[in-house]
Amino acid sequence: MAAAGSGHENWSSRSAFILAAVGSAVGLGNMWRFPAEAGENGGGAFVLFYIFCVILIGLPVLLSEVLIGRHGQANAPESVRRLARDSNASEGWSILGSMGVFAAFLILSFYCVVGGWVAYYIGVFVSDLFQTGLTGGAFEGRDPTDIEGLLPGLFGNGGLMVGLNLGFLAVTMFFVARGVSSGIEWVAVYLMPLFFVLFLCITIYGAFTGNFGDAVAYLFTFDFSKLTGEVMLAAVGQAFFSLSLGVAGMMTYGAYANRDTNLGETSGIIAVADTGVAMLAGLAIFPIVFAAGLSASAGPGLMFQSLPIAFQAMPFGSLIGLAFFIMVFFAALTSSVSLLEAPTAYVFEKFKMPRMVATLIVGGGAAVLGVLSSLSFNDMAEFYPLGFIPLFAETNFFDTLDGVTAKLFMPIGAILTCIFVGWIADTKLIDDENGLDGLLHKTWRALVRFVCPAALLVILIMGLLG
Ligand code: PFF
Repeated sequence: MAAAGSGHENWSSRSAFILAAVGSAVGLGNMWRFPAEAGENGGGAFVLFYIFCVILIGLPVLLSEVLIGRHGQANAPESVRRLARDSNASEGWSILGSMGVFAAFLILSFYCVVGGWVAYYIGVFVSDLFQTGLTGGAFEGRDPTDIEGLLPGLFGNGGLMVGLNLGFLAVTMFFVARGVSSGIEWVAVYLMPLFFVLFLCITIYGAFTGNFGDAVAYLFTFDFSKLTGEVMLAAVGQAFFSLSLGVAGMMTYGAYANRDTNLGETSGIIAVADTGVAMLAGLAIFPIVFAAGLSASAGPGLMFQSLPIAFQAMPFGSLIGLAFFIMVFFAALTSSVSLLEAPTAYVFEKFKMPRMVATLIVGGGAAVLGVLSSLSFNDMAEFYPLGFIPLFAETNFFDTLDGVTAKLFMPIGAILTCIFVGWIADTKLIDDENGLDGLLHKTWRALVRFVCPAALLVILIMGLLG
């Protein structure tokens, strides 16, 4: 259904909007990045600070972003421009949306690389299921170093990496090209419930067969001596990545929301669901890893290397491994779709071209960057695109894109969003959109005006210096 006069599509219902936005938020950030970051940053203190960041910074910024989108009913730069114009402010603020769209494009390109690894592990567990059978542990009779070597083995194969990357991107493009209701909404409405069912089964499985007590103690024992500047920076970066903030994704989805959707309430639901999944992902993965006597601090290798080793010793290991990676695939796809939608909506609305053509143009660009990212694990490992900047010295293409978006685009985008919504935009227009009243409204405004930009500025400076 198009909104009056805008030619713009809308979600078919409030629950479709919630599922799509939760689908955008819940992804590799929850299943792969959160446990890795928690493990590398000492567990409990990181987790507590992360929750703190979600409530005090993430949630207010999330509401600000969907609100800009809903007011504008257009792609992100255009939505910001419309709110600026309606507030008699400079339309130059649309740069905030343009930066976000560009950042979403950059994230998309390397997100699909990791999506490709997930697809690879689905293949690994399917073939293992045929070899090992249904009930036994995964990878029967194989040496753990062998299982650990699957990931470096994949990294060493440039052709396979590129193929998987482009395959994942192509699936993402297929759904975005179909449009909001029959593509993006379809993915969210079918895959998110399936994701939740699998997720619950695996968490229960982890709790009963793994070392649940140790995992709870690890994640929820707060040792404040471990709360260093670096840990705080990692936590806020993770909160932003996980909630899809600072990069126009939530503005774009907000633009498809109907006028009668209460945005304050909806943002709360998205934040609670996303954080709940991150916590439960920790409670699913760490018991299994601890039960196998493996370390929590394996970082990015936790999901792709430690977990498959841990499945070796568990009943139904191959089956659970397969279910786990299918579940992660669903979560990653609903996120990559939102990453592609933000720049695609911009291109087809701005240049008035068919959605299909815009999807091909944006997807084609992401494919080029994706190939460079895939090759940065093998043939182009020594290529450091921003090596002349100390912050990115000896950083390969993949890590440069990750670093530039997480350390620069996301915090700068969020600071500008807070200044725009808190200080520049017309208060009356903002109050009409946000769905909050009383103390909640006052608190949100104070957070957006003072706490969030100040905290983000400190974090940005710390990040740049560090
Ligand atoms: N929130 C997603 C995740 O946790 O995997 C990643 C993401 C999606 C970031 C969409 C930004 C975005 F616009």
